[in-house]
Amino acid sequence: MKTYKIPVIAGDGIGPEVIAEGKKVLEAAGDNYGFNIEWKEYPFGAEHYLATGELISEEALKELSNYDAIYLGSVGDARVPSGVLERGVLFALRFFLDQYINLRPIRLLEGVETPVRDKGPEDIDFVVVRENSEDLYVGVGGRTKRGRVHHDAEVIRNLYSVKFGLDIDSESDEIAYQVGLISAEGTKRVMQYAFNLATKRENHVSSVDKMNAMTDIYSFWREIFTKIAAGYPDVKTEFNLVDAMTMWIVKNPEWFDVVVTPNLFGDIITDLGAMVQGGLGLAPGGNINPEGTSMFEPIHGSAPKYKGLNKSNPIATIWAGAMLLESLGEAQAASGVMRAIEGNLRARKVRTFDIGGSSTTSEVGADITRYIKQSY
Ligand code: IPM
Ligand code: MG
Repeated sequence: MKTYKIPVIAGDGIGPEVIAEGKKVLEAAGDNYGFNIEWKEYPFGAEHYLATGELISEEALKELSNYDAIYLGSVGDARVPSGVLERGVLFALRFFLDQYINLRPIRLLEGVETPVRDKGPEDIDFVVVRENSEDLYVGVGGRTKRGRVHHDAEVIRNLYSVKFGLDIDSESDEIAYQVGLISAEGTKRVMQYAFNLATKRENHVSSVDKMNAMTDIYSFWREIFTKIAAGYPDVKTEFNLVDAMTMWIVKNPEWFDVVVTPNLFGDIITDLGAMVQGGLGLAPGGNINPEGTSMFEPIHGSAPKYKGLNKSNPIATIWAGAMLLESLGEAQAASGVMRAIEGNLRARKVRTFDIGGSSTTSEVGADITRYIKQSY
């Protein structure tokens, strides 16, 4: 029987408890569909950082790059200043492993309420392809008081490297600045991915930007989009400004099929998407490097106030697990896991508080496992 070795970073807050359920469900899928999973646990996150001062080492990153897929809970903890774990662990993984796609399905499953009036599962079914390695998430940033400073920074990627030098001569009391970038290489590959995905779906790609205000960076985005679109004459396309996009996602979610977006706007609209699909407890994501190591996680954070309470919804993590199986080529097992999630939700019996139930995290995991065992 085939054995997959899968690194697990359960991380902080509710990460460990939702990952525990995800592992159970994926193991049950392995039993049904004929493969084994050997988990390899990694300790990265707040506890490890507070105990050792280490975020994640280059050695660990290299070791992780030998695997096809990583299962991640979440990082973030009130004892560590905001941004330290996010940048030092999560972004370190995304960037080092060049996971340039952040794939986030926005799908309302049957048995789940959406806050959007009069919309159902047939209306809410699109995929956000979020660029995951550029934009305002990288580049130069800093703060400076009155006077002159010089700031150097580098962005080193597999595809290119860029050196920034910024000369500042400021008469303000203090300024803060952050200069991002998008590259031709990085933009092309995310768009290519989005268009290829659309050809397997409804042949429609919607682009998101803020071209009317940030003209340099996003006119470049549009130019590349137009070039890539020319190679897909059967795919319908349009541009959306991100502010209008937040309106359309609520007003007309049925318009969308594949949405391709720069990193920061993708971060924002996928939390909105998560609400439209019934809540953060149901929203999975994949950080994908199609040629390398991908990483699957619920898009919710570590939710520290629910830590250890066995209350949180494990479905986002289990769904992320289905995406992980799909990326390994276990398509049948992946759809088995999805059918089990759908069975659980449709029955409306065993569910966590966020979607109107009173069951525990582990009861939901056990119920979904039961559906898998019945080959539901
Ligand atoms: C996400 C998260 C992260 C992001 C945070 C934790 C830095 O919000 O994965 O959407 O902004 O990418
Ligand atoms: Mg986010």
